[in-house]
Amino acid sequence: MRAKILAIMGVIMDSTVYSNDISAVVEADRAHLWHHLIQHKPFETVDPRIMVEGKGMRVWDALGKEHLDAVSGGVWTVNVGYGRETIAKAVYEQLVKMNYFANSAGSIPGSIFAKQLIEKMPGMSRVYYTNSGSEANEKAFKMIRQIAHKRYGGKKHKILFRDRDYHGATISAMSAGGQEERNAQYGPYTPGFVKVPHCMEYHKQWDVENYGERAADAIEEVILREGADTVGALCLEPVTAGGGVITPPEGYWARVQEICAKYDILLHIDEVVCGVGRTGTWFGYQNYGVKPDFVTMAKGVASGYAAIACCVTTEAVFEMFKDNADDPLNYFRDISTFGGCTAGPAAAIENMRIIEDEGLLANTLAMGERLMNNLHALKEKHRVVGDVRGKGLFCGAELVSDRATREPVSEKMAAAVVADCMAQGVIIGMTNRSIPGFNNTLCLSPALIATPDDIDQITQAMDKAITKVFS
Ligand SMILES: Cc1ncc(COP(=O)(O)O)c(C=O)c1O
Repeated sequence: MRAKILAIMGVIMDSTVYSNDISAVVEADRAHLWHHLIQHKPFETVDPRIMVEGKGMRVWDALGKEHLDAVSGGVWTVNVGYGRETIAKAVYEQLVKMNYFANSAGSIPGSIFAKQLIEKMPGMSRVYYTNSGSEANEKAFKMIRQIAHKRYGGKKHKILFRDRDYHGATISAMSAGGQEERNAQYGPYTPGFVKVPHCMEYHKQWDVENYGERAADAIEEVILREGADTVGALCLEPVTAGGGVITPPEGYWARVQEICAKYDILLHIDEVVCGVGRTGTWFGYQNYGVKPDFVTMAKGVASGYAAIACCVTTEAVFEMFKDNADDPLNYFRDISTFGGCTAGPAAAIENMRIIEDEGLLANTLAMGERLMNNLHALKEKHRVVGDVRGKGLFCGAELVSDRATREPVSEKMAAAVVADCMAQGVIIGMTNRSIPGFNNTLCLSPALIATPDDIDQITQAMDKAITKVFS
């Protein structure tokens, strides 16, 4: 079996002969692999999908079928596209020189990438390496908790999170999770996390004109209810991703910033999806003039070429962890073993160079505008498209059965659209098993290298799929 698999790997690595028998791989997958985010019962009768090659915007599965990937690796990750040899070479060269040492010591790519990253984040100062978005958020939570202990006798320890936001899959990251369906059956959760209302205007919670400010004021109401002296931080996505691609309403962020300053609350921005170019700026928060205390990032940092995530802080936060060197507990007593892997920052340096040299931020803005225009055209054409939202190459189309009441279509119907696009060779995403009754938003996050033809092909597939499913 092993010899057979290696032989197939050889075929795959030698590239592009897909007619060869891949049954041994499928057999091993079906027998032993536990895929993420998916019910496995159907695999008893249907083969699991196995992706074997990617180039640019496209991926090929084990059957040789070509797909245009409109979600950058399924979960908005491969920002610079597939098959980047320069990233692979940078990682190779780094690995043969020095693959790993615990991050209690520095590394050449770790230091260089930290400097380059901070140059893109005015006001920020320190980079803490880790290996997943969940873990980066956990680091921020731990820092916030330790600050509460150091400065406020542990009292100002509560962390606010927002309805519909997602911050990761570990228990404490899920304690800050605003998606009830995703959280169901995994509790009990870590204490001290408190929910604030979402800011989505399409599904209004207040009938007011200045919706953004009103939604931010709802955060203040929670702070006052809990007691400002118990609230240490507020954790928000700049644009909510898996909760429905929710772009913030006008006026929201300015008011959020005011509230944080008023009550001495640290602002933690989760850029795991928006970070490193997705919205057409280096970071999503930079679209809204926000000044965070913590920024976490993961997916696009190295576009999935190596595992890397970062928890970035201001110098003021960092200073709090070295203000009394005589106290043996007075520093951040934390480690992430794989935060010392050098493949991550080596890949991230090259990833960032590609974004700069190829002008991918500008392309993201231009292609994002084209994508939004195309989505607006779909909304004009199909009554089931109730709302379209987005920032840069990060867009969503919400499907509703009734435009007046904004009643969502069922998750099944949205999934049928995704499946039809897949059959056409275009991979799009959707909110799934996250918000009860609201898993009805189609999600798009193509690589930042998308061309006008790619964008049009994506929306043409959606057009056909929506026509078919809802006629
Ligand atoms: C906004 C956000 N934060 C955090 C995470 C968790 O990242 P990871 O899966 O790398 O742990 C995700 C994952 O999708 C995310 O969308």
